[in-house]
Amino acid sequence: MTKTSSPDVLERLVSLCKRRGFIFQSSEIYGGTGSVWDYGPLGVELKRNIKDRWWRSMVHTRDDIEGLDAAILMHPRVWEASGHVGGFVDPLVECTNCKRRFRADDDRIKGEPATPDVQCPSCGMKGTIGAPRQFNLMFKTFMGPVEDTASTVYLRPETAQGIYVNFLNVQQASRQRIPFGIAQIGKAFRNEITPGNFIFRTREFEQMEMQFFVEPGTDMKWFEYWKEQRLRWHESLGLQPERLRFHEHTKEELAHYARAAFDIEFDFGGSLGFQEIEGVHNRGDFDLSRHQEFSGKKLDYFDQPNNRRYVPYVVETSVGADRTTLAVLVNAFREESVAGEDEGRTVLAFHPAVAPIKAGVFPLVKKDGMPELATRIAADLRGWFPVFYDESGAIGRRYRRQDEVGTPFCVTVDGESVSDGTVTVRDRDTLKQDRVASDRLRDYILEHIAA
Ligand code: GAP
Repeated sequence: MTKTSSPDVLERLVSLCKRRGFIFQSSEIYGGTGSVWDYGPLGVELKRNIKDRWWRSMVHTRDDIEGLDAAILMHPRVWEASGHVGGFVDPLVECTNCKRRFRADDDRIKGEPATPDVQCPSCGMKGTIGAPRQFNLMFKTFMGPVEDTASTVYLRPETAQGIYVNFLNVQQASRQRIPFGIAQIGKAFRNEITPGNFIFRTREFEQMEMQFFVEPGTDMKWFEYWKEQRLRWHESLGLQPERLRFHEHTKEELAHYARAAFDIEFDFGGSLGFQEIEGVHNRGDFDLSRHQEFSGKKLDYFDQPNNRRYVPYVVETSVGADRTTLAVLVNAFREESVAGEDEGRTVLAFHPAVAPIKAGVFPLVKKDGMPELATRIAADLRGWFPVFYDESGAIGRRYRRQDEVGTPFCVTVDGESVSDGTVTVRDRDTLKQDRVASDRLRDYILEHIAA
C-alpha cells in the first residue's frame, strides 16, 4: 500500500538532512535519479553506526553466528531457484493519458482498474487506468561483452541468497554446528514501482540479514527467540518502545518461502503511521532444498553425534539499514521551545551511540589561550570518537548548530579552563552543564556513550 507520511515533518526532515549533510538526492545537478539517495558526511556516520551496532550484536558478541560478504552479482540460476524470476512481481497499472505507472494496490487510485469510473491519481482523468500487468522487480544487466539472454544477470534483490549458496562453505570452514547463523550487510536493488517517502522505499538500499540454520522441529522455538532479540535491538537504538510493534503475517500475506512471519513495525507518524522496518521469517527448508535441486549439489548437514543427515530449516532476520536510519531520524527529530529564550531549537535527540558527532568543542572566546587549549582537547578526543571544533559565532548559536545534528555533548573552554584545567560539558537533552576536569573528559564522554 502506498501512503505518504505527515508532509510537514518528513519535508522538514528532508530539508534538514540536505542542509546539514546527512542525505542528498542522487545526481542532483542532473535533476536527480528517482528514489536513489546519497549519504553525506553526517549521514554516512549515522548509518555506519547503525550497521556497526547490528554487526556487533549479531556477529562479534556471539559465538554462534559467522559473518559473510557475498557478491552482488550471482549465477542467474540462483534467482530461478529462489523463486524471484517467476514470482518476485508486483501488479502494475498504467494511465493511458499521462503514462504514469502505479502499483495496482495504490490507495490513491479511486475505483477499480480497467473500469470507466477509475480515476488516475496523477492527471485526474477517468477510465484511463488499464488492467493490472505483472512486473518483475529485479534489475537486469549483462555480464561480458555480449548483450543477449544467455549473458543476463540480476542485481540481487535481497542479500539472503548469497548466504544460502555459501551455507556449507561457511559451516565447514568455521566448523560450526547447528544451530548457528550467517550474517551479512550489503546492497540490494529492487525496481520498485512506487518508491518514495525519502529513504523509506528506494530502488537501491542496504540490508542487514542473518540466516539461522536449525534442526527441523526446533524452528518455531528459534523463531520466537529471534523475534524478541530483534525487538530489543531496535529499542537499544533509542527507538521509543511505544513506536514499535509486531505485525503477524496472515496466510494471504505470507511470502512463497515462509512458514511463519512477523514484521517489526515502527510508527513513522503522519499518514505513513506504523510500517515494517524488519521481517523475521521462518523459511523452513525452502531455500536450501531449492538450491540443492537447481544446482544438483547436496546442501545437507551431517549431525555427527546422532549420525544422521538433514536439510536444516532457516529462521531469517532481515532489516533495512536505510529504513532503520529513517526510523532513527524520525524518532530523534524534535522542534521545541527553550525556557527563557525567544528562539526555539531543532534537535536530533539520537542515542549517543549512533550520533554522528559525539562532541562539539568550543573556546568561549577567540583569545586568552582558549582556542589553543580547545584545539588540543579536540585533537585528543578525536583519537576516540568524531569531534567538531567550532569557534565561530555566539556560543548559543554553536550549541544550536550541534543540537540540530544530534551531537550529545558540547565542551566549552573558558577562562577558568585556562587556569584550572576544567571545562563545562553541556548535555544536549537536559541542557545541564557539568564541570569536568579536562583529563577526565574522554572517559566522561565514553561512559555516557556506552550507557
Ligand atoms: N530476505 C527477506 C527480505 O528481503 P523483505 O521484507 O523484502 O525481506 C526486508 O525486506 C527489509 O528490507 C524490509 O523490512 C525493509 O527494511 C528493507 N527493504 C525492503 N525493500 C526496501 C526498499 N525498496 N527500500 C528500502 N528498504 C527496503
